[in-house]
Amino acid sequence: MPKDFSTMEDSNRCPNPSIHDISQPSRRTLLRGAAASAFLAPLAGLGLAGCATTGGGATGTALGFKSVPISNADTITVPEGYTAQVIAPWGDPVGLSGEMPAYKADATNSATEQEAQFGMHHDGIHFYAQSATSGLLVMNHEYTDDGLLHAGGMAGWTAEKVRKAQAAHGVSVCEIAFKEGRWDVVKPSPWARRITARTPMAVSGPAAGHALMKTAADPSGRRVLGTFNNCGSGITPWGTYLTCEENFVNYFKGPDQPDAHQARWGLRKGDPAGYRWHEHDERFDAAKHPNELNRHGWVVEIDPNNPSSTPVKRTALGRAAHEGATVAVTRDGRAVVYMGEDARFEYIYKFVSAGRIQAGGAAANAALLDSGTLYVARFDADGRGRWIALTHGEGALTAANGFADQGEVLIKSRQASDRLGATRMDRPEWIAVDKQGWVYCTLTNNSNRGGKDQLGVDAANPRANNGMGHIIRWKEDGDHDGLAFQWNHFVLAGDPFNERAEAKGNVKGDAFACPDGLWVDARGVLWIQTDMSTSAMGKGELAGLAHNMMLAADPATGEIRRFLTGPAGCEITGATGTPDGRTMFINIQHPGESPSERSDPATPTRFSNWPDKGGNRPRSATVVIRRVDGGVIGA
Ligand code: FEO
Ligand code: CA
Ligand code: CA
Repeated sequence: MPKDFSTMEDSNRCPNPSIHDISQPSRRTLLRGAAASAFLAPLAGLGLAGCATTGGGATGTALGFKSVPISNADTITVPEGYTAQVIAPWGDPVGLSGEMPAYKADATNSATEQEAQFGMHHDGIHFYAQSATSGLLVMNHEYTDDGLLHAGGMAGWTAEKVRKAQAAHGVSVCEIAFKEGRWDVVKPSPWARRITARTPMAVSGPAAGHALMKTAADPSGRRVLGTFNNCGSGITPWGTYLTCEENFVNYFKGPDQPDAHQARWGLRKGDPAGYRWHEHDERFDAAKHPNELNRHGWVVEIDPNNPSSTPVKRTALGRAAHEGATVAVTRDGRAVVYMGEDARFEYIYKFVSAGRIQAGGAAANAALLDSGTLYVARFDADGRGRWIALTHGEGALTAANGFADQGEVLIKSRQASDRLGATRMDRPEWIAVDKQGWVYCTLTNNSNRGGKDQLGVDAANPRANNGMGHIIRWKEDGDHDGLAFQWNHFVLAGDPFNERAEAKGNVKGDAFACPDGLWVDARGVLWIQTDMSTSAMGKGELAGLAHNMMLAADPATGEIRRFLTGPAGCEITGATGTPDGRTMFINIQHPGESPSERSDPATPTRFSNWPDKGGNRPRSATVVIRRVDGGVIGA
């Protein structure tokens, strides 16, 4: 039997178990099948496996591949000696038994068929190994390009098209297996599942049942339909998947005059993002159902090992335009969830659970993320920082200031953070923790920084018109629950050929801009994925960088080396791998996206036809990366 982490001695243990040590070949390998829901060993991999590489950096993370040049080719390019294989593209069936509708290349699949197929715009991803040659791949589908999704695009807008768009959002769970030198989706599979913008889910934590969460359709305030705009993701030591609701506000039609709360969350008059869901699904009309907006913007916990489980929106982690949710573990076994809010001048958060992680998998930890303390970060100019609690009754978070209770603090976390003097950042995206305990956060860009009537630069966000982005990192005092930290900049992204000093960056290695996805692999290599927007890609100060890319960084030396370039118009999203490090999975999101982010249905292949080529419309997909010699990726 595995040890109960909560009773382990602190001596002779690595300072903090890495999430990789937790999620990699654990007892889960032995539990495939009936015992999966009674997962016995979420913590079995803790300890020695992590300690063996705790030296990290100089000895453990050397980059052994030859970097690839920038690329304008409509293809995936990987280093010499590597292969890239496409699986799980949008529209392929996920493998639901009896429901495996074939992808129709003219986009005429129905909404019902889309509910059984991979969604669009793949993002956060994780591989849950079940054996050396099989496991579950769980991934987010962030948003849709309705010009590509439907035959005829958005012309003749119908309830069926809204339902298809909602079905192309959310999360996919599929089983994959390695046979004859390649990974493929297993169809059918008892693990296959689609979670969409219409899937019933529970609400837990301090905001569950709050007056601000109640709607006509749900007077309890505890049962919500769906998750959407799922950007980054995270994993827990107890085997669940965290999917994060990012730009949820874009799906709502705003009233003519949004109130102060709605305005602080970016709700604007009408439907400026043009998703048009409200036309056939009234809950997306915020004038009629103002509280529906409050029911989105949460981190949602999903148990991929239990296909009939109900996803849970964990309100104790706060409401935000969540990019991702990265879990670390304190020495005494509490979960710490780091979260960035990807919006200009928004915040970085962490949640520290009150209780300790228990052996027994998802069932034993079903309430762990429901009680604890949420903090927001303040980065001071002296290289130090503080975590400030978002706790009702403390400081300015009182009823007199508009926070009736803890539920309201969490629903209005932006307003709470505004009052606490937290640092307003340059669009915090993914967060990753390295082998030394440094916590990295990508700040993708913020062209408004230092602009007219905008906030100026500060120590943590030091560049005006920050079109290139940077990566900040911090190390907590003591443990991951520390209330103070030291911080520095790991890198300021940029292109040294730019004329503007602030756009040159200080990259030690290959140039890049707009860091977004981050992942620390089992060896301690920091993988960086870029998201130069399609409207800015290849122009101005980004002209010399061509397509989006993925790079590998050695945290010990700061060296950064370009590993992969993507097809036209895409961004690179999400990274995960097999426990042996010999297969990496990444996502290609929105290949062929037009600068307007919505394709002309008359010319769907105008910018890309990856991956199917020929006359086929582009499709987001997962890419399997391996070495020809079967070696460890990146080494
Ligand atoms: Fe969906 Fe923040 O990238
Ligand atoms: Ca992202
Ligand atoms: Ca992004």
